[in-house]
Amino acid sequence: MSATMNPSAADVEMAPGIACQVRDLTVAYHVDGRDLTALRDVALDIHQGKITAIIGESGSGKSTLALALMNAVSKPGRIVRGSVAYRGMGDVIRMRPEQLRRIRGKSISMIFQASQNSMNPLTRVGKQLLDLARSHRMPNPRDVLREAAALATRMSLDADRVLTSYQHQLSGGMRQRVGIIFSLVLKPDILLMDEPTTALDVLSQSSVLEIVRSIQRERQLTTVLITHDMGVVAELADRVVVLYAGRVVEEAPTAELLRHPRHPYTRALIRAIPRLTGDPSQAKALEGQPPALASIPAEGCVFRNRCPHRMDVCETVLPKFAMDADAGMHRFACHYEEARA
Ligand SMILES: Nc1ncnc2c1ncn2[C@@H]1O[C@H](COP(=O)(O)OP(=O)(O)O)[C@@H](O)[C@H]1O
Ligand SMILES: [Mg+2]
Repeated sequence: MSATMNPSAADVEMAPGIACQVRDLTVAYHVDGRDLTALRDVALDIHQGKITAIIGESGSGKSTLALALMNAVSKPGRIVRGSVAYRGMGDVIRMRPEQLRRIRGKSISMIFQASQNSMNPLTRVGKQLLDLARSHRMPNPRDVLREAAALATRMSLDADRVLTSYQHQLSGGMRQRVGIIFSLVLKPDILLMDEPTTALDVLSQSSVLEIVRSIQRERQLTTVLITHDMGVVAELADRVVVLYAGRVVEEAPTAELLRHPRHPYTRALIRAIPRLTGDPSQAKALEGQPPALASIPAEGCVFRNRCPHRMDVCETVLPKFAMDADAGMHRFACHYEEARA
């Protein structure tokens, strides 16, 4: 689609190399008569042809962000403000349902956290793939089946068996892989993956991630990888966005982030992974819990209650981003680090 066909696309100025630009994104869930903010003023750039990881503990807002990236937040949630603009497509938050339906699953594809549940239990996998191809008006639906078979083989699945199976005939790990096949088979421009391998054992997890990465490289696929696992980030991602209590607290190229983490939360996430610290005896799990939505501090730093460097200013003033442009646009929001710099 050319930008001129879609007025919202023309409005957005995007830096070169950026596939998606998120600004001021704020999402709330309406619970017990009040709005609880799950994502607040999230701004980030998703780089074209790269893997951008979004990392944070459970409850930090990762799945909410994944859904918001496709304008698929549903009740009791709603997008309060902000924009999610894709190059050449425009702002999905402002799109009409028909426009959204066309790009979802085709231009922008998503593997959900529980992708094994998203299949239709009453239809064989192959038939579902054909339906998917037809619903997106692919010129040759049979090609889609062939592509799916090739992907299945790459993922060490028996292609014939998978395509003729019903969901209940597949194991959890196989379903997860089939979910990945569904998300890649229409050759999307952008792939969003929400904890794509959490249902898999460690060995299958790394083989599946390996395949996702090789396909990503072949196709120069713009990929958003959502995970709570800094180990997965280290293996796969080009850039990392760190999310805490619904706010971005740090963003950097992966190697830079692992070498020079600036936010105390990021440091704690890295310390928790033995194979990253190099010394298993030094690995230390992060203490405490991220706050529940109702108790996220309304002002000051959202991380301060767990922070070893907490200062007075952290109580009242939201830390602004400091940017290290020489380090691949490394940015972080921390009063303590800024004072040290
Ligand atoms: N449907 C919902 N209704 C109410 N609160 C929700 C709903 N979905 C998510 N939340 C809350 O929003 C916050 C972020 O959740 P989520 O995006 O699922 O985080 P993550 O994927 O990082 O674990 C959590 O506090 C969660 O309890
Ligand atoms: Mg989640």
